Amino acid sequence: MQEHVKILDHPVIKHKISILRDINTGSNEFRSIIKEIAMILAYEATKDLELEEYEVETPIAKTTGYKLSGKKLGIVPILRAGLGMVDGVLEVFPAAKIGHIGMYRDEETLMPVEYYSKLPLDVEKRDIIVIDPMLATGGSACDAIDNLKAKGCNSIRLLSIIAAPEGIEKLREAHPDVEITVAQLDEGLNENSYIVPGLGDAGDRLFGTK
Ligand code: PRP
Ligand code: URA
Repeated sequence: MQEHVKILDHPVIKHKISILRDINTGSNEFRSIIKEIAMILAYEATKDLELEEYEVETPIAKTTGYKLSGKKLGIVPILRAGLGMVDGVLEVFPAAKIGHIGMYRDEETLMPVEYYSKLPLDVEKRDIIVIDPMLATGGSACDAIDNLKAKGCNSIRLLSIIAAPEGIEKLREAHPDVEITVAQLDEGLNENSYIVPGLGDAGDRLFGTK
């Protein structure tokens, strides 16, 4: 795989993604697995965060402790389906601020349409984690990242549960500086730009709208 693209390779993740894929899995279990994988992606995607040393006294001895010392974090879910990952990422970074970008794919043109954006006032000073379970054509993620860069953000990571090679390619071309961490790389897209084998429409499966 390319530079700046990490793929989780773990038997438990493969097990859980198979449950997500299953057409018979209901919204309750689907939501809970999306949250759990989002938490693991958040750890994996932030291995490079800066640390500062300090002295800690344990009940046994003094030792060197570490605390995160870099920029504050901002989590930006792409609505709707990105909402399903927010709680998992917040488990890892409970003090992060949360911005929202609303985006849907026009069913005819398949192009992303932005309908909402509300970001923290100091968004440009933060390390930003964009979250969306599906990276299909990459159009939605690219547009959301364009929006963030236009606001001055220069440290952006993207976390997705399932990606198609086409989406990764598009993002790598448009935003080579953005680190991408995905739980699963699938085969490709079908004629409607759905990921194959994928898991269907992530928003509908999370929120029970189909
Ligand atoms: C889904 C998904 C991504 C987008 C991925 O959202 O959550 O945002 O499609 O496709 P792309 O990479 O080709 O842009 P959708 O448009 O279904 O909206 P929803 O989350 O509101 O259901
Ligand atoms: N959006 C989804 O929710 N699923 C796909 O497979 C592609 C885009």
